[in-house]
Amino acid sequence: MKTLIEKLEKNNILSKEEFITLLTNLNESNLEYLRSKARKITDKHYKNNVYIRGLIEFTNYCKEDCYYCGIRQGNNNITRFRLTEDEILKACRKGYKLGFRTFVLQGGEDLFFTTPKMVKIIQSIKKEFPKCAITLSIGVRSFAEYQSLKNAGADRFLLRHETANSEHFQKLHPQNQTFEKRKQALLDLKKIGFTVGSGMMVGSPYQTIEELVSDLIFLYELKPKMIGIGPFIPHSSSIFKNEKIGSVKNTLALISILRLMFPKALIPATTALNTAIPNGRIKGLLHGANVIMPNLSPDNAKTNYTLYDNKAIDGLEGADLIKQLDDNLIKFGLKVKISRGDPLE
Ligand code: 5AD
Repeated sequence: MKTLIEKLEKNNILSKEEFITLLTNLNESNLEYLRSKARKITDKHYKNNVYIRGLIEFTNYCKEDCYYCGIRQGNNNITRFRLTEDEILKACRKGYKLGFRTFVLQGGEDLFFTTPKMVKIIQSIKKEFPKCAITLSIGVRSFAEYQSLKNAGADRFLLRHETANSEHFQKLHPQNQTFEKRKQALLDLKKIGFTVGSGMMVGSPYQTIEELVSDLIFLYELKPKMIGIGPFIPHSSSIFKNEKIGSVKNTLALISILRLMFPKALIPATTALNTAIPNGRIKGLLHGANVIMPNLSPDNAKTNYTLYDNKAIDGLEGADLIKQLDDNLIKFGLKVKISRGDPLE
């Protein structure tokens, strides 16, 4: 297995069969070999820096009905909220003081936040914080709309592909959403010049190793600069409430594999990982992640932005605790880096 891992490090890609072999042989010693290689590569390019992004969850209204998601339109069991432009700016101010130089505006696909409204919000943030990057995570929109958002000053865009297998995609989403549309949106974002992020859940219902391998190959072809993955976590009011949680071991192994495939990518240790296991964030970083996204949202937004059950919102999820975070990272030889944290070319 070590030779396969070395081959992946050298070529950044393996054949489908080789990936399957690797993913079905994740014993302790292979995992540790992968992990240490991944961390070394991260250190080589990014040193011990951990980039921080201030996450602002600004609406949990959503027109879509993704079967896995707690804020899907059909869930009548949650309190919906929208932040005002003023509340979003307040969150940015608080974040800026704490040292955040990237703000991530994440929301459901909320028709209230039309593209002209988003343009106005982006312009206001950029006017007050010209040196900060804005990342959007607001789902699928048209090419023209994406272009307006970019023109307004948005820098980056997160849109997970969720699964690169069309049939699997259809088991996770209603008919109106398709993998083809998702892929087209990602290509549009790239063409417009956004720094693009994508990724998938690990252990989503009906996912097998084969799907994960398609995801890796899809990502290799797309070449996003940011890649976010996390374990699937069931939500009690979603269609998948009785499904089982995704594997943390696979998630950590995949973070390392992605680091070998994309030496310079920005890879977050996600909230889902941190929810699934204690210290998930640190474990993710030690497996080759180099980004964390603490939550800057006001408390009511934090509690109601429930993509899955028991979402971690205490402790290190709170941006107020950035100092503790840095102290915690130092114990593992890592440190918080105060900067926009753009990807290396
Ligand atoms: N478990 C884990 N991740 C989830 N997401 C949505 N619902 C869940 C869940 N139940 C992820 C999706 C989405 C991102 C914002 O959150 O991958 O793209």
